[in-house]
Amino acid sequence: MPAPPEFLQFVDNNADKFIKRLGDAVAIPSISGDASRRGDVVKMAEWLNGQLKAVGVETQLVDLGKHVMDDQELNLPPAILGRIGNDPKKKTVLIYGHFDVQPANKSDGWDTDPFTLVIHEDGRLIGRGSSDDKGPILGWLNVLQYHRENKKELPVNLRCCFEGMEENGSEGLDDLVKKESQPGGWFDGVDCVCISDNYWLNNRTPALTYGLRGLSYFKLTISGPGRDLHSGVFGRMVHEPMTDLITLMSKLVDNQGNILIPGVDEMVEPPTINERAIYERLDYSIADVEQSAGGQIAISDSKVDTLMGRMRYPSLSIHGIEGAFSGVGAKTVIPAKVSGKFSIRLVPPQTPELVEPLVEKYLTDEFAKLNSKNKFRIECLHNGRPWLADINHWNFEAAKIATRAVYQQEPDLTREGGSIPVTLTFAESLGVNVLLLPMGRGDDGAHSTNEKLDRSNFIQGTKLLGTYLYELAAITQGKQ
Ligand code: BES
Ligand code: MN
Ligand code: MN
Repeated sequence: MPAPPEFLQFVDNNADKFIKRLGDAVAIPSISGDASRRGDVVKMAEWLNGQLKAVGVETQLVDLGKHVMDDQELNLPPAILGRIGNDPKKKTVLIYGHFDVQPANKSDGWDTDPFTLVIHEDGRLIGRGSSDDKGPILGWLNVLQYHRENKKELPVNLRCCFEGMEENGSEGLDDLVKKESQPGGWFDGVDCVCISDNYWLNNRTPALTYGLRGLSYFKLTISGPGRDLHSGVFGRMVHEPMTDLITLMSKLVDNQGNILIPGVDEMVEPPTINERAIYERLDYSIADVEQSAGGQIAISDSKVDTLMGRMRYPSLSIHGIEGAFSGVGAKTVIPAKVSGKFSIRLVPPQTPELVEPLVEKYLTDEFAKLNSKNKFRIECLHNGRPWLADINHWNFEAAKIATRAVYQQEPDLTREGGSIPVTLTFAESLGVNVLLLPMGRGDDGAHSTNEKLDRSNFIQGTKLLGTYLYELAAITQGKQ
């Protein structure tokens, strides 16, 4: 039972309307990590809820309570639960996506306003959230719209879970997922999960994804003086917080990517020959990483080592320093309080519970060695465990068949370097297979400037999501 040709035709015929709707979604700056934009995340939830209802989804907005961000208490944006169908003869598929986005300012280096979707003549749809993750969510909406407008039943029962805090650690969502997975909950009876919130490995080969890295995100704060000081007046008289912070931050990782915190890299087994062969087979080259990074900066010349660096090893990145002088000119200040932000991407068997104590002990010991009179504080801002799925499951098989049908290509099977912490929560609390089915390409620039989704990925990706549901229904006919 492949997807009906009318569905594929409908998607082509309505492409411009779909793109316009993507423009409406991008125009709402739903930045979850910016307290001043919280109202826009709520507005985005309401917009999406309206769209879902219009295509026949029964929905509920769930209040997730409050949280503290940057020392402010804020209401969490609501999550959206949804359902269509309850036919015991059909499989029940849960789809997940996030409608919040990363911050973006034109001044970061965007060529155009990040919250106005620009349709470039080369087919790029440029705007914050186009690829991560509004485009994929709208892909599902497009699929549902076909069924609604043409009075066609879906080939599966559908359940939805959309959230507005993913870019900020999915706060509040784990408990909701666990609760709704119980008998009588919205996700009771779910047979498999499909998440479209990642990217192809390159720009030419569709992918199915069976792994994500976990994450532990840290904030290291050094303070001392009661206020910012003049470096001419206080320089060499007092312990400077920036000096201590830079010293500590320089001891986390070396420039070859090795993590210097004892015990962290050591937790991960070296790859076997067979495992290296998996990476050897992937359609990727050093030129791909350098093209998508926008610079000739690959650490290794080996494709396999490069891919393993992202997919099967942990990594530590230094993100920024809060409180440091960062304005124009040459201010001669000694900042009073500075916080370094860094995170570690985790792979099995690492977990936040295993890694965080190692980080805290190491930094505490290293700080003690400095003999500084400043104050030291290390916090973990958020975390998530790594996830790996069974690629031999019918959920992956259906997606493979759908990919062949839409793209006439065999998909790459990938593990991702990024994190979607709720993935593992779905897998564990429902006890079912989870598939990541990406829409965008490796060079979409999620979190970066000029984020884009190619028109063809949006349109073919919509066909892929729909076709996947049909292939899933076909392949599971008669299966328990
Ligand atoms: N869509 C990404 C996850 C992702 C990133 C998948 C790269 C594949 C490749 C997601 O929106 C994201 O950015 N997640 C955060 C999670 C964090 C805030 C807990 C991430 O990976 O930094
Ligand atoms: Mn995402
Ligand atoms: Mn993201």
